[in-house]
Amino acid sequence: MEKKVALITGIGGQDGSYLAELLLKKGYIVRGIIRRASWPNTKRIDHLNIERSKESAVAPFFIRYADLSDAISIRAVLEEFKPDEIYNLASQSHVGISFKCPESTLNFNALGPLRILDAIRDMKLDCKYYQASSSEMFGISPPPQNEETPMLPQSPYGIAKLAAFHTTKMYRNAYGIFASNGILFNHESPRRGLNFVTKKITRGIADIIVGNKKKIVLGNLDAKRDWGFSKEYVEAMWKILQHDKPDDFVISTKETHTVREFVEEGFNLMGLDWKNFVEVSDMYKRPAEVPVLLGDSSKAEKVLGWKPKTKFKELVHMMVAYDLKERMEQLGYLPIEPNVKKSDEFYIEKGRELAKKLKKHKWQIELDGTSPFLQERKKNL
Ligand code: NAP
Ligand code: GDD
Repeated sequence: MEKKVALITGIGGQDGSYLAELLLKKGYIVRGIIRRASWPNTKRIDHLNIERSKESAVAPFFIRYADLSDAISIRAVLEEFKPDEIYNLASQSHVGISFKCPESTLNFNALGPLRILDAIRDMKLDCKYYQASSSEMFGISPPPQNEETPMLPQSPYGIAKLAAFHTTKMYRNAYGIFASNGILFNHESPRRGLNFVTKKITRGIADIIVGNKKKIVLGNLDAKRDWGFSKEYVEAMWKILQHDKPDDFVISTKETHTVREFVEEGFNLMGLDWKNFVEVSDMYKRPAEVPVLLGDSSKAEKVLGWKPKTKFKELVHMMVAYDLKERMEQLGYLPIEPNVKKSDEFYIEKGRELAKKLKKHKWQIELDGTSPFLQERKKNL
């Protein structure tokens, strides 16, 4: 049987990288697009051997330059790859930044999907289309939110995603294209971008533990989010396109927690009181906020057989462990051993040991010479 070809936009992002791994494992030929400014910031997909892949029609993996704001570039990759499945994951994905850059956010996030869908229609491509829709579209609709919940977006990002959501449905209804929406609630991982709140917290904790940083400055601690694990959510994306008909699905964990709870859980793992290390600033508050997201993904569970495994506490544990490992290796607290696999608990325990060396009063790091890096720094103080 001929291998299926999948095209992933946003392949260099958190979800794109996990989805590429999943589809390669399933035997797909995987193609991706990145925009010019993304190169060489391709850390999440470098292990897939971008540069060494031979660019032939049957090569398992390679990428091209294209941009969702450039219809010519989109048509060129569709023409070249003739994909069986398109996963449109590319977007300006930061809600806070969408208030600062509303016009480009609408251009990429609302018009980008339109450009792809219209090219599929115009070129009469026989392919399935997945749209990365978002729980941010629900805005201030009270929880729990499911496929029937009214959508009342509160940000340029949410408005753009809602336009793309309806565009996807319109191309499905009007032109018979197999076009589906995954309405995904927040999902995180060690690969999460640095300015999303979960990664900002776990990276911040690791930085405090190794003496790189004194505090984490955050915005609204009361917001509630339904946080799942990205690697499991990309499986839902694939299942959505394998369903016998195009449809829209909510994907979530059915649990919600405040940002404060995330902070507390992370610092608790280190045996520290978060209140000594977190400051709140208006700088990170948004002009309008989505107060509570709590997804009801019963439809996906029933129709697709998809269910999340990783819940809140495991997610925090995994992300803190990853950031501790990265920082402790970078600063010489631990040797870099690429072929040695240690458990997450190992790094959490090492973090706890270092946490005990933090002086009792706020944010004061005791440079006791544990790390060669810190010894060097101490000499130069
Ligand atoms: P991400 O890590 O920010 O990845 C988004 C990718 O899109 C990045 O690689 C980015 O490239 C690329 N991109 C941005 N603008 C582009 C453009 N004009 N043309 C081509 N590529 C462009 O986001 P993610 O967390 O993986 O999320 C994947 C998708 O799901 C996004 O559409 C997001 O809005 C949506 N979503 C995410 C969540 C979540 O909680 N993660 C929940 C619901 C929906 P650069 O590296 O160059 O910026
Ligand atoms: N980013 C950020 N930085 N958020 C903060 C901070 C901070 O310093 N302090 C508090 N928050 C609050 C935000 O106000 C928001 O209520 C919550 O933490 C989560 O913020 P983000 O992690 O930026 O995620 P998001 O919910 O706005 O958006 C994410 O989820 C959407 C799905 O609901 C993104 O991944 C979107 O792309 C995605 O569609």
